[in-house]
Amino acid sequence: MAEASKPAAAAEGEGVSRRDVLRLGLFGSALLFLAQIGGTFATYFWPRKVGAFGGKINIGHYSKYPPGSVTRVDAGKFYLVHHTDGLLAIYWRCTHLGCTVPWQPNLEGGIFACNCHGSKFAATGEFISGPAPRSLDLFPVEIDADGNVIVDTGTIIQRQGYSPDQATPVPS
Ligand code: FES
Repeated sequence: MAEASKPAAAAEGEGVSRRDVLRLGLFGSALLFLAQIGGTFATYFWPRKVGAFGGKINIGHYSKYPPGSVTRVDAGKFYLVHHTDGLLAIYWRCTHLGCTVPWQPNLEGGIFACNCHGSKFAATGEFISGPAPRSLDLFPVEIDADGNVIVDTGTIIQRQGYSPDQATPVPS
């Protein structure tokens, strides 16, 4: 008696073969690997943040910051100080253990005084006393052609003391 023939698909094996599963697994792994490489390249080549901490921040025209003023700029985590030598952008992070250092206008004629362990810094950010190992750090400041103050919070300048060349002169 003749054997009944099976449909073609059933004759080649039912369901998904082990080889298909392996192929799919390899394909998926390759895709995942490429996605990770793509992500790494995107992170590396993506432009640095602009307008937020870690990038350049435009804080407006220099005339907003009169001589003698100390202005807290939360977006950049710094104080803009208009010193007699020019503008200083002082990173508010204490150089001891990283606490945010408040400006104390009524203390000793105006100083930065850290509440954590008592380090004190002059209005220029220069170290006065306490456990901090150096003066408060700075961010570079430039004044563009329109008179806007641009602070680069992606570049931290460490220093021991203060010298007038650290300040950016304001146009007179
Ligand atoms: S963190 Fe400022 S003095 Fe210790």
